[in-house]
Amino acid sequence: MHLYGTQTIGQNGHLYIGGVDTVELAKEYGTPLFVYDLALIRNRASGFIDTFKKYGVNAQVAYASKAFSCIAIYQFAKEENLSLDVVSGGELYTAIKANFPPERIHFHGNNKSYDELLMAFDAKIGCIVVDNFYEIELLKEISESRNQSMNILFRVTPGVKASTHDFITTGQEDSKFGFDLNNGQVDEAFQQVVGHKYLKLLGLHCHIGSQIFDTDGFSLAAGKLIEKIDKWNKEYDFQCEVLNLGGGFGIRYTEEDQPLDPHIYVEEMIKTVKEETKKRNLEMPEIWIEPGRSLVGEAGTSLYTIGSQKVVPNIREYIAVDGGMSDNIRPALYDAKYDAVIANKANQPRTSTYTVAGKLCESGDKLIENIDLQQVDSGDILAIFCTGAYGYSMASNYNRIPRPAVVFVEDGQHQLAIRRESYEDLILNDMEYQLNKVNQS
Ligand code: LLP
Repeated sequence: MHLYGTQTIGQNGHLYIGGVDTVELAKEYGTPLFVYDLALIRNRASGFIDTFKKYGVNAQVAYASKAFSCIAIYQFAKEENLSLDVVSGGELYTAIKANFPPERIHFHGNNKSYDELLMAFDAKIGCIVVDNFYEIELLKEISESRNQSMNILFRVTPGVKASTHDFITTGQEDSKFGFDLNNGQVDEAFQQVVGHKYLKLLGLHCHIGSQIFDTDGFSLAAGKLIEKIDKWNKEYDFQCEVLNLGGGFGIRYTEEDQPLDPHIYVEEMIKTVKEETKKRNLEMPEIWIEPGRSLVGEAGTSLYTIGSQKVVPNIREYIAVDGGMSDNIRPALYDAKYDAVIANKANQPRTSTYTVAGKLCESGDKLIENIDLQQVDSGDILAIFCTGAYGYSMASNYNRIPRPAVVFVEDGQHQLAIRRESYEDLILNDMEYQLNKVNQS
């Protein structure tokens, strides 16, 4: 069995994370429960940051916090010297409440509202990643009315699309995000901001995809961005200070996934950017990246209590857990695969095959199909690995199921990071029915 980060199997046969017995965590905090292994995240963060340092390259490693957003993880990211990528007023608000250093916050999004942009100016964040012409208009209006400067990057679609082991290059990309790099759009955007009194263009940004297992796509995209920067440099003496190559570094959900070490992605990027800039006599820019999944994905484990079981003779055996698509939509939405273990029987052989069903009223609410597990009894604790990215952050209250609690563990200690939603929380915004004809008469 593959164990992640600090996971071990104790003498008692239980799964431990960060030196803490997960069966005890399930008892203390209830289930479903997300458990985050902080040491694993620290390790990943320093894997990225230290590689840039080793090669003497100025960099920012921005945690793409859509993967998992809450006050405690932002405070942790601050401690780890990460920067922060936020994509909404809500994430920005959370970052401000967490006292995250505003100069290290980068704001993304293809439809940022006027109010969201105002929040960013109020907080004096480090950079806005500008996505479209409408946003340029809004930014001009806000910056001019406040006489306030703002650093910006242009998000571009470089015509490189990476997905897992392949990448494809297309002349033009059909994406809702960013300015097209090849058809003159980004040049038009450049014309609109060049020399602007308050909007300071630092450079370019691209994000080529998710769960990527090789470095070629990043190198190709970097090369294309630098080509454009070279053109602007020659024509307008533009000095590029920042090249942001996005996130998307792959992780191991199941044994089919063979991720690279963080330092390999970084080394390849550095190599390409150094070569391409040197060749064109350009200054070496800072390199920024935006890992989300690769920082927190493998660090998260979901604990569930197993309840009912159902045998469909000659077809399959279902075991049902006390959560499901409300706390992990990824299997239903993307056909995502996961590995798991019975946390209170982790040292026992896997003798049975089950399909893990959730408790929501939808037949597609299955978390794992046909997984070999230890013989299950109702009341056992199921641990599903690698749920730290896009699990809690995509959770919903479908079927009025309260969102789970989240705990952090490290060195034998544990702490609540997000408390479990209560039934009272669920009706907090509900109003009484008032247009009732009977009461009015
Ligand atoms: N930067 C930008 C501009 C992005 O759009 C994303 C992810 C990231 C960084 C972080 O990518 P990561 O390193 O986490 O792969 N809900 C989907 C993933 C959506 C990713 C959206 N953008 C999932 O559960 O797989």
